[in-house]
Amino acid sequence: MTEKCPFQFDLMNPMTHNEKLPFEAFATLRRECPVSYQSGAPEYGGDFWAITRREDLDFVSKHPDKFSSSVNLAHPSPGGDDPESMEIMRQLIINMDPPDHIKYRRVVSNAFTPKAVDALTLIMREFAKSIIDKVAARGECEFVSDVSAEMPLFVICALMEMPAEKRQTFASLVDTMIGMDDPELDVSAEDGQLAAAEIFGIAMELAASHKENPQGGTIIDALLNGVVEGETLDEFQFCTFFLILIAGAVETTRTATSQGMRLLIEHPEQHQMLIDNPALIPDAVEEILRFYPPFIHMQRTATEDISVGGMDIKKGDMVKLFYPSVNHEAEVFGDDADVFDITRTQRMADLKNQHRTFGVGQHFCIGSHLARKELCIMFEEIVPRLRNPKLAGAPHNLVSNFIPGIKHMKITFDPEL
Ligand code: HEM
Repeated sequence: MTEKCPFQFDLMNPMTHNEKLPFEAFATLRRECPVSYQSGAPEYGGDFWAITRREDLDFVSKHPDKFSSSVNLAHPSPGGDDPESMEIMRQLIINMDPPDHIKYRRVVSNAFTPKAVDALTLIMREFAKSIIDKVAARGECEFVSDVSAEMPLFVICALMEMPAEKRQTFASLVDTMIGMDDPELDVSAEDGQLAAAEIFGIAMELAASHKENPQGGTIIDALLNGVVEGETLDEFQFCTFFLILIAGAVETTRTATSQGMRLLIEHPEQHQMLIDNPALIPDAVEEILRFYPPFIHMQRTATEDISVGGMDIKKGDMVKLFYPSVNHEAEVFGDDADVFDITRTQRMADLKNQHRTFGVGQHFCIGSHLARKELCIMFEEIVPRLRNPKLAGAPHNLVSNFIPGIKHMKITFDPEL
């Protein structure tokens, strides 16, 4: 039996990440036992190896043959671990292993080209303006529902040509799938499964209506009709792609917007720098992504006995990759790695390639270009118009060991005249 690490931080307990991400615990683990065996409750897959340094995270992520995303999935399962829902979740690209993953990814990444994403820039800008128009004169808002939640949903609905009337249903299904660990949201495993099934239904309707009324050159068309080296997506695979967009594209970007706003409010001098020089906004977005990544962890299962960071991992062991830890590693980001600094790119020009917020290796995020674009456009509208922002009370955080989301965050600002 593998011996537990003497440094235990209850990392799978959602409350450990609730008030703020446990950066001190991660620093201790990186220093004392960067690859450590930790206790985990059975509902989160039991005991596991915690990977807290970038070198080891890169090694695990770049060896999908040795560390499977499929056996126990790459993320906590919203439908619990019953075999049927696990089998469905295995059809999601993020939970595939080679060789299936390589084939499927070719079709999907062929659809999500920077050109296809850039084609949305204009409508994203218009939409961002309309979000801020609605709140600017009020001088206060509930930032999450009024601002952060709006853009990612709009973008996914636009990408997938979803009719406006389906958007609200889609939004509440997203909350159900994400909120399983949060007692306030009171979501059972069964609710999670039902939400997934409903999203499947929406996706099937979209595929059917696209077939009736096809429009070439869109992402949905490339997903449904794309052929890359003889590979295509069938209708079932197309529908599963929808599920990945929930946590993958909606909740993450919403979290980055909310946490980014919180960080700027807590660092007014850095907020002022952005007002004085909006050209710094892309740098600020990169630092927000590094400092407070929207995924706390992803997981793998060892397919063979293997040594990582000098520790002996056994076939079948669960391995968890902690992104907030590797993004705060002093050996990579310097002694001020724990400091939020929007000018970091001035001394680390390739910051975007140094942090691991979008993962690394074969499963590297397909939506990173889209996410960065959404965030830049949002902050370009927020910063000049919501002046002198302040928190009106403590943010109300999502209870989760997966996504450090914010459920509600009331803020005040100078009303726009
Ligand atoms: C700030 C926002 C986002 C963050 C932090 C993020 C993060 C990540 C991470 C860490 C992975 C790698 C998972 C692993 O190695 O197991 C990933 C994969 C993925 N992401 Fe994102 N993501 C974001 C936005 C998006 C968006 C907007 C899309 C929409 C297209 C998207 C689609 C995907 C897909 C399809 C995968 C699976 C790729 C594969 O398995 O080959 N993500 N993302």
